[in-house]
Amino acid sequence: MCSERECDNRGVKKFDVAIIGAGAAGMLCAALAGQRGLSVVLIDHAGRIGEKIRISGGGRCNFTNVDVGPANFLSANPHFSRSALARYTPHDFLALLKTHRIAFHEKHRGQLFCDDSAEQIIALLTEECARGNVAWRTACVVSAVRCGSAGYHLDTVAGEIIASKLVIATGGLSIPKIGATDFGYRIARQFGLKIIEPRPALVPLTFAGSGSTPGAIGFKDLAGVALEVDIETTGHYGRGHFREDLLFTHKGLSGPAVLQISTHWRRGAPLRIDLLPGTDIGAALIGSKRGAAIGVATALARVLPKRLAQALCEAEPGIAGRALADCPDRLLAALGARINHFDLTPSGTEGFRKAEVTAGGVDTRDLSSQTMEARRTPGLYFIGEVVDVTGWLGGYNFQWAWSSAAACANAL
Ligand code: FDA
Repeated sequence: MCSERECDNRGVKKFDVAIIGAGAAGMLCAALAGQRGLSVVLIDHAGRIGEKIRISGGGRCNFTNVDVGPANFLSANPHFSRSALARYTPHDFLALLKTHRIAFHEKHRGQLFCDDSAEQIIALLTEECARGNVAWRTACVVSAVRCGSAGYHLDTVAGEIIASKLVIATGGLSIPKIGATDFGYRIARQFGLKIIEPRPALVPLTFAGSGSTPGAIGFKDLAGVALEVDIETTGHYGRGHFREDLLFTHKGLSGPAVLQISTHWRRGAPLRIDLLPGTDIGAALIGSKRGAAIGVATALARVLPKRLAQALCEAEPGIAGRALADCPDRLLAALGARINHFDLTPSGTEGFRKAEVTAGGVDTRDLSSQTMEARRTPGLYFIGEVVDVTGWLGGYNFQWAWSSAAACANAL
């Protein structure tokens, strides 16, 4: 059985619901709406669906997190995600996983991954869509959306489609080479919704010039060095603070600590980084001076990665090549301060090309938090990453896709 209603005599296809964007949010929404008995068409301009799911979590898809709450999401309206997250939780998605016999495991900080492959999540969503008799239009470009007496009229390369309700699930701008577009924002503007300026998030940060911090250590020499840090900035959502791993790269800084803070970071703002959280390393070095027959760099390499310890000692005036026992306290205190307050100002980010998600998007003040429907345009809905709700690293962005999709599907 197909959910398409009959064509009218112009060949126009009519549906209860058209969903544009067959990613995580669009597919779950289509499946749930179809299973409620609605006729649903799911449209994507890409030939292959669910590309972001496929590449997520290193190919194993970190599909949710055991510990999800509104505090894990950033938005101009921090309460917006509360209702949807409470009504479709990680347990709901896990129940679906179990019916499809998909094995999973928990990693760092409650992150849940497939044991085998992210393809299993795509297969699950595809099968759920089939159960809901969802009609597909892939490799289908939508050139215009109009509002008429019968509902939403879509001009597509596959002909005209009319639907009583229209759901936009076209995601954000991250990774354009696999199909990201600004379509959702354009439709939002067309219907008078505001947009919070989209920007790359969960993205590595870069530093101007030669790849060195001003007057200090060179990043290039440290590429590959990783360590746990405290990182903090005051930016788009007030103060952001994380204790996670930082990774030096050829271009600057990455790793979970930096990806997390990048969502908060506002251009021009400094990052406050403590390379040895919980240790006053200046005091510790001074306290261990007596009788120590080792160099400062060697002493530091007991608590920091060796290459980083060396680079820090070389960059600090008066320290390079010095024995710990002979080093004046004031120099050790200065070195310690540099390590506990390794403060830097990024020059930028690696952009949408490398960003895991897009922060900003459709302004939540123009949407119902219960249904995701546009407040002033009945029948028009926005779900998933196109909305100004950005999750932390760790499965939260997929959970937002699932929760917002379910909130919408139940209201269609
Ligand atoms: P999504 O981007 O998934 O889907 C949008 C769909 O709309 C696409 O199929 C696209 O082709 C289509 N589309 C776009 N423009 C269109 C147009 N003009 N016409 C028709 N169709 C159009 N999150 C997480 O929680 N855990 C993880 O492990 C990861 N890992 C990860 C790795 C990488 C490399 C990236 C880039 C991202 C992640 N994410 C993640 C983030 C996660 O992938 C993302 O938040 C969700 O896929 C968002 O789901 P949506 O359905 O909203 O958009």
